[in-house]
Amino acid sequence: MKLTIDTDNKKFLLDDGGDEVRSLDLYSKEAFELISHLWLKVGWNQKYPYTFSWMGRPIIQLPEDMIRLQEVIYRIKPDVIIETGVAHGGSLVYYASLCKAMGNGRVIGIDIEIRPHNRKAIESHEMFPYITLIEGGSTDKTIVDQVKLLVKPGETVLVILDSNHTKQHVLDELNAYHDLVTPGSYIVATDGIMRDLHDVPRGSSDWDWNNPAAAAAKFARKHPEFIIEQPAWPFNESDLTENITHWPGAWLRRK
Ligand SMILES: C[S@@+](CC[C@H](N)C(=O)[O-])C[C@H]1O[C@@H](n2cnc3c(N)ncnc32)[C@H](O)[C@@H]1O
Repeated sequence: MKLTIDTDNKKFLLDDGGDEVRSLDLYSKEAFELISHLWLKVGWNQKYPYTFSWMGRPIIQLPEDMIRLQEVIYRIKPDVIIETGVAHGGSLVYYASLCKAMGNGRVIGIDIEIRPHNRKAIESHEMFPYITLIEGGSTDKTIVDQVKLLVKPGETVLVILDSNHTKQHVLDELNAYHDLVTPGSYIVATDGIMRDLHDVPRGSSDWDWNNPAAAAAKFARKHPEFIIEQPAWPFNESDLTENITHWPGAWLRRK
């Protein structure tokens, strides 16, 4: 595919090697979506998501996804937010700060390895009273049981999967945690962007099938009580409709 951005003529030209070169208005919705998609791939290769922090802790996310997630958290006001994949703790601190601001909710984070300097920083953080850390494999039965014991009957639960992103692991996590999700809430299989990164220098050729979006799609086929659905935007005065995201096909809403 050859893309030409012609700022003089305000055109965006797409040449896929076929008979015709498509010409789009550079300032159109379609051109914005195509440019954004490419921007996501280039930015991922440049480790753009590894440049942010929340209240002092590194958070490995695209800010776009953080804002969209905040829109969902504010609407659902979960009592418990469970996340697999803690790393430096920035995402846990982010959710905890939202819980504190809303006056509702707490956070459970699971990671196979919480490095001592990360544990120390998380445990001494202002938001730690809202956070429970669990160290272990997210699909290990003892860990899943431990998480389930921390959720009280009737609590509203949101689950975010951000640990090992192979298709099989995400599928195992979906199977392990989906029954905790409250109707109307979500289990989010993050980083499905991998399916579009198989041809990027830092990517891997198997990611076109071995990715979280493929796991979410497979899970949804077997679980009609869940539907893959991008959450509606609470505010939109544009013609745009699609998230600019590292999490395509991620949002599984429990009906
Ligand atoms: C992408 S990072 C998490 C980023 C974090 N959620 C954030 O937004 O900053 C992935 C983490 O998953 C953890 N991990 C990998 N395999 C795991 C597994 N089987 N169970 C639990 N955690 C795992 C890694 O140790 C790593 O810290």
